[in-house]
Amino acid sequence: MRLQVYKSYEELSKTTADIIINLVKSKPDAVICLASGDTPRRTCEIVAERGIRERIDFSKFTFIGLDEWVGMPKNNAGSCYYFFETLLIKPLQLSSSQVHLFDALSKNLDDECKKMDKTISEKAGIDLMVVGIGMNGHIGFNEPGVSFDNYSHVIDLDETTITVGQKYFKDAVILKQGITLGLQHLMNSKKAIVIANGTKKAAVIKQAVNGPVSSLFPASIIQEHENGYVMIDEDAATLINK
Ligand code: GLP
Repeated sequence: MRLQVYKSYEELSKTTADIIINLVKSKPDAVICLASGDTPRRTCEIVAERGIRERIDFSKFTFIGLDEWVGMPKNNAGSCYYFFETLLIKPLQLSSSQVHLFDALSKNLDDECKKMDKTISEKAGIDLMVVGIGMNGHIGFNEPGVSFDNYSHVIDLDETTITVGQKYFKDAVILKQGITLGLQHLMNSKKAIVIANGTKKAAVIKQAVNGPVSSLFPASIIQEHENGYVMIDEDAATLINK
């Protein structure tokens, strides 16, 4: 794992967007998985802005959404679907055949998981995963205590995730479960990047980077990824031993 610290959230976002765009340029049929959330928001905006301005061909890559709140309608502005729809899918005019997001309203969530795993294995795996880190050290909805061996699965949400998750919604919502790619997807991806910004993430970044590798703190698994990066701004780097 390599650690890279950037001056600001904007610099971090620009660099992350560069990595995504350069991959699509060098490998047009790349498979890319992104997290939603506050951290990757600016990255997605830059990818879309540059994609349109520089007329980058995004028509051949495969987009995978990392996770979704179980039971959340797509048109809820706090859903992961809505995030990707407004920030990437619409602006870049991605076709439905190249976009793979969990349907969190499906009556058969196990099938949703199987469908996602099949899509990823048929595409010969994920080239790049860009994920955030939760205030409890989760990646996607891989909550503390999750097995490192999981592929896609449905999971009961941790108390921290339920509380912190309210920030995405205008009105209070009941959050109970999540559907998510597993940490095996992260470990099997050709390149994995954990991004974080702000002082509020300093303690969790310290634990992910300097703490023991443990399923009790899922993001710590990034230490064992051969092509794993932790990319953060200076505020998120204040507590780590460099
Ligand atoms: C959320 C999501 C994750 C996200 C993480 C951090 O609950 N399940 O996919 O990466 O927590 O979110 P944020 O970037 O808003 O801090």
